[in-house]
Formats: sequence, structure tokens, C-alpha cells
Amino acid sequence: MTQEESLQADPQTRFQDFLKQEKYRKTLSQMAVQGSTSITVDFEDLLSADTDLAENTVKKPDEYMNYANKAAYAQLQIEEPEYAEQKEKEEIHVRLKGLPETTQLRILGSLQIGKLVMVEGIIVRSSPVNPMVMRAAFKCKRCENIQIIEQAGPFLKAPFACADPACKSKGPFDFLQEESTFIDFQRIRIQERPEDLPPGQLPRWLNIELAGRDLVDLARPGDHVAVVGIVRARAPTLPTVGKLRVFRLNLDANHIDVKSKEPEALITSPEEEKKILDIARDAWVHRTVIRSIAPSIYGYEHIKEAIMYMLFGGVMKQLPDITIRGDMNVLLVGDPGTAKSQLLQYVARIAPRGLYTSGRGTTAAGLTAAVLRERGGGMTLEAGALVLADKGVACIDEIDKMRPEDRVAIHEAMEQHTVSVAKGGIVATLNARTSLLAAANPALGRYDAYRTVAENITLPVTILSRFDIIFVLKDQPEKETDTRMSEHILDIHRRGMTPVESPIPPNLLRKYISYAKNIKPKLSETALQRLRDFYLEMRAASEGRDSPIAITARQLESLVRVSEARARVALRKEILVEDAEAAISIMRKSLGEVGIDVTTGKTDIDLIYTGKPKSMRDRLQVILGTIIEMEKETGMVDESALIEKLTKERDITAQDVQRLLDQLVKEGTVYRPREGYIKKT
Ligand SMILES: Nc1ncnc2c1ncn2[C@@H]1O[C@H](COP(=O)(O)OP(=O)(O)OP(=O)(O)O)[C@@H](O)[C@H]1O
Ligand SMILES: [Mg+2]
Ligand SMILES: [Zn+2]
Repeated sequence: MTQEESLQADPQTRFQDFLKQEKYRKTLSQMAVQGSTSITVDFEDLLSADTDLAENTVKKPDEYMNYANKAAYAQLQIEEPEYAEQKEKEEIHVRLKGLPETTQLRILGSLQIGKLVMVEGIIVRSSPVNPMVMRAAFKCKRCENIQIIEQAGPFLKAPFACADPACKSKGPFDFLQEESTFIDFQRIRIQERPEDLPPGQLPRWLNIELAGRDLVDLARPGDHVAVVGIVRARAPTLPTVGKLRVFRLNLDANHIDVKSKEPEALITSPEEEKKILDIARDAWVHRTVIRSIAPSIYGYEHIKEAIMYMLFGGVMKQLPDITIRGDMNVLLVGDPGTAKSQLLQYVARIAPRGLYTSGRGTTAAGLTAAVLRERGGGMTLEAGALVLADKGVACIDEIDKMRPEDRVAIHEAMEQHTVSVAKGGIVATLNARTSLLAAANPALGRYDAYRTVAENITLPVTILSRFDIIFVLKDQPEKETDTRMSEHILDIHRRGMTPVESPIPPNLLRKYISYAKNIKPKLSETALQRLRDFYLEMRAASEGRDSPIAITARQLESLVRVSEARARVALRKEILVEDAEAAISIMRKSLGEVGIDVTTGKTDIDLIYTGKPKSMRDRLQVILGTIIEMEKETGMVDESALIEKLTKERDITAQDVQRLLDQLVKEGTVYRPREGYIKKT
């Protein structure tokens, strides 16, 4: 048939001609084997075979999809007559995949109503799959006549009157479930992907209705999808009031495509690749990258180094029995106004799939996930920040202010990288393979060097121990740095630009990271030895000191991750001793900052896990022992007598006794029955 002849043929015939292509004839015969009821057509194919038909399908999808479905059924009757016999006409659907252009959620409006569009986004909500009645059978109670009513709209429609001319009764009618036909139905909501979001804008969302066994349950919250469908405008109905005049847009899905779960590898041009390789070849590559991270923020080299490791990440290990995360978690604890939020926002901007949120979360789902009751009565599962940043970086400011539910769920998210939900009939496990960069304010507003880390941060130690690296940002007046920092900040304000040029521009840095992430570095024999020695040394140091928890396997894994990340920065496949050294050094700094035993100056990992430095625990033990001893004699312990005894016999300063006593009181181990007296509880 020539193009002209085919233009004259009716649309259904033209669709059928199109489906006679070898490729689709094969697909049609496979339908019988797989028991499937839909045939997926690449829109590109349709466009090149019959442009006019393709264009009309986009413009008038309701009319043309109907032709397409009928054509598919007609062709199925030719290819697989027996299978077509079993199925009814209405059950066979053509699914259109991949329109030439994506419609942005932010421009979707009244112009597109009734049109076929393709939208992309990340699923933020999904309802359970429920049966929806399409053709409802009703029996008249008077004459038992059965009538089928085609259903549309949100409410079940009963017959207006009995169809039997002899009866014509207005009811009552019985709904007959067995004689009615149902399809699987699910509602999802997609939201603009963080990377599509113009800076400073809230993400737009769109509700999508999935009807049909082949469409439901294909994707979960957190998945990135491309959905082809017809834009509908529906009037929300208010009970007793009626329909509203302002309609709501939603999408009747025709096809849903789950995008690869990996962040799209950013495309690098040959020139860019050359630049990346040049940077990586330099011996000072690590310095160069660190200096390119938030150059407007002065100082904090070690923190930027940690951020660099987090951005490049370690290698995920998928063993037959378990998976070990490669992504790193970094925590910044610091005084107000120490540029924490600025750093986090910067990272969210440059990281692939970066997301910035506060500990409270911006939605009801918070940081992990939540099951919500919908207005219509049903339940939906909503994804929180860590799920939305799957395979990316979640920057969570003020993490100490997270919801109590998240406090529980974040444990699993941080180590196993999943979020499990079992509530309101919804049971699901969502992926949260996320690097976490978190910031928190000290419990008392400012970091108190004379308190332990656990006292300073209002996070349980079980969460603290899941961070690979923890850094403290102290706002301490120091003449030299203050001078240079003020100059730096004032310079920015005067010139309106950063005084230090970023060696790698942000756009290239993003590509650099994406490029480096393809490398899976392996430990060299010498690097492995170095890490093992360090670990054993640390273990030995706590041995025999009656220390309940020493450095754990967690830190060893962190060391490996940091080493891998450092090798990646240099685009190296092998982890060298220098990588291991750097990892050990940053780990020491991190442990040191948070774990310095304020009384002996020694690094003490106990501090992080139990919240008490070893020597302090020893002292608490001594003080408690003395209290018990003295109680035997006097019943109540005179505080001044206790202090005197401890300073003389045990060499603990009065100030320390006071401080430790306060802590024991706070813990509830002892109490003050009267001013100046102590008693054990
Ligand atoms: N080292 C620094 N270099 C450049 N600017 C800085 C530095 N430290 C602080 N600032 C500036 O101080 C301001 C306050 O920073 P920011 O809001 O990020 O602090 P914060 O640590 O998040 O404080 P809070 O804990 O109160 O939320 C910012 O405008 C930031 O640019
Ligand atoms: Mg802040
Ligand atoms: Zn009747």
C-alpha cells in the first residue's frame, strides 16, 4: 500500500497494518505463551511507519487508542486465534512506550487535557493494589432481571430503573459480584526528580492512575519512572456539597517504564574526559578536588576531605549471602553559624541525585517512610528523604530534630540501606541506598569540650556508631584564623564572588564523580596489611583495659570504604598504602575530635559508644564505690566530706567530682535528698 492509499484507510486498519510488522507479529504470538493481555509498541516505530497516525494518537488518544486496541485484537485473531477466542476484545491493550518528548510536570496544565503525554519523575506515594469494578451486574429484587452497568467515575453506579419493560421498577437492586468484571487498580504519585528542580523551587507532583494487571505493582516508591498516559481533569467531589469548579489534573496511565535504578551516568564529551584524566594524573589530585568543594567556605579542609570521600564513595559488595554498603555516612556536629547548612546545600547541588532536607523532613513521610490515610479512606505508602535519594546523597540538616518514628527506622536505613514498612495492610521494603551527610547542633547550643560526645549530641549511640566519620565544628575565637576568615568572608561580600577560584568547575566535578564511580578499586596486599595492623593495634590497645566495646568491625569497614573512595578520586583500580594511610589519618582525626578523653587526652573509642571515656568511667566507678562505702557509715553522704575524701585519697579534682556527681544525678544513679547531701538510688 502506498502512503497515500494508507492515509485513506480507516485508522483501525492502519494500526493493524502497522502491527503486521515482523517484530509485532512475534510479540503478538508471545502474548499467548505468556498469557499477557497487552502489547507494547515503541512509539518511535509507529512514528516512522505512519507519522500521521502517530500524531493523531497523541492529539486524540481516547479515539485512537480505541482503534489501536481493536486492531491489536483483530491481528491477534489472525496470529493466535485460539488465544483470542479465550480473551474478550476489551481485554487487549496496546501500550505505547517512549514518546519523543517528555512533558515537564511544571508545565503540565489545561493545554494538555485529553492529550497523550510522557512524564518523568520519582514515585513518592503508592496505594495497595485493589480490584476496581468496570462492568457491574445488578439484579432487580422485584423481577430478578439482571442488568450490566458500565462504570466510570469514583462511585459505583446502580441502574436508574429496571431494564425489563414489564417491571421498570426503580429498585432495589442487588450487586452481583460474580457476574461483574474487575480490573486491578492502583494509584501512585510522582514528583519532579531533585535534579530537574530549578533551584529554590518546591517539587511539583502528579497523581497517576494505573488500571490493569500489566500496569500495577511494577514500581515502588523511590523508583524513577517514565509514564505515558492521557491527561485528565477531574473535579474533586466534596460530600454533600458536590463537585468543585477548579479541577485537578491526573494521568490515566497507558504505559509505565521503570528507569534503571542507577543514577544516569552523566555523559562526558571526549574533551571533558581528557580534562578528567588530566586532573586525575596529577599527584595532587586529592588536594585539587578538596579545594573544588565549596570554595567559598573558608577552611575546614578535613571536613571537605571527608565530603570528598563521601561523594566518591566505596564499593558495594554483593556477596551471595549478604550485601555490604559502599556508601558512607558523615556527621557534622557544630556550633551555630559554622557553615554546616551551607556545606550541606552545596553538596546536595553537586552530588548526583543530591537532596537537601531538614531532620523533620519536608513531607509527612519524614526521613524514611510512612503509611498515610488518604482522604478517600484508603491507605498509601509515602517515601521519605532517604528513599527519594536512593543511589544518591541525602543531606539532612538538623538531624537531631528528626521524628521519633524516624529515629527507629533510620537504623535499618543507614546500615542495611532499606526501609521496611508494615502498617495499615501495606507491607513493603523500599530501597535507601543513600550516602548520608548529616548536620546537628550540640545539645546545649554550643559544643562543650568538657562534656562527652554523647552528652553533646542528642542522638543515641546506636545511630552515632553508624556514621563512618564524625566531625565537630567549633566556633572558637582564634586571632589568626579569625583574621583570615573575616577577610575571606568580607571579600566575598565586596566582590560578590568567591575569592578563590574553584580548580574544577562544579559541572565538571559532577561528571568527574560520576566517571570515577565506575571504578571498583581493589586492596593491594600492602594496603590490606596496613589496615589490618591498624585495626589490631587499636584492638590491642583496648584489650585488658576492661573495656566493654573497643573499635569494632564497623570502623574497619569504614576504613576500607574511605580507602576505596580515595583510590577512586585518582581513578586508580588499586588501593595503595597511601590510601590506607589517608583513611587511617582521617579516621584518627574523626575519632580524636569526638573521642578525645578530655581528662587524659587519649583517644578513646569507648566515648562514642558508651558516651563515657574510659578513665571517666573508672572515676565514676570510684566515686560510686566511695559513696556506697560512706553510706554504710552515715546513711546520707555529706557532699563536702565526699569531695575531700576523693581529692585526698583518690587524686580527683574537686571540679571533676562536682561534674561527675552532676552527671550521676542526671543519670539517676544518685540523688540529692537535701542540699549538700548525696544518696544512692
Ligand atoms: N568558614 C566559613 N567560610 C565562609 N563563610 C562562613 C564560614 N563559616 C560561616 N560562614 C557564613 O556564616 C553563615 C552561617 O552559616 P550556616 O547557616 O551554614 O551555619 P550553620 O552551621 O548551619 O548554623 P546553625 O547550626 O545555626 O544552623 C553563612 O552565610 C556562611 O556563609
Ligand atoms: Mg544550619
Ligand atoms: Zn425488575
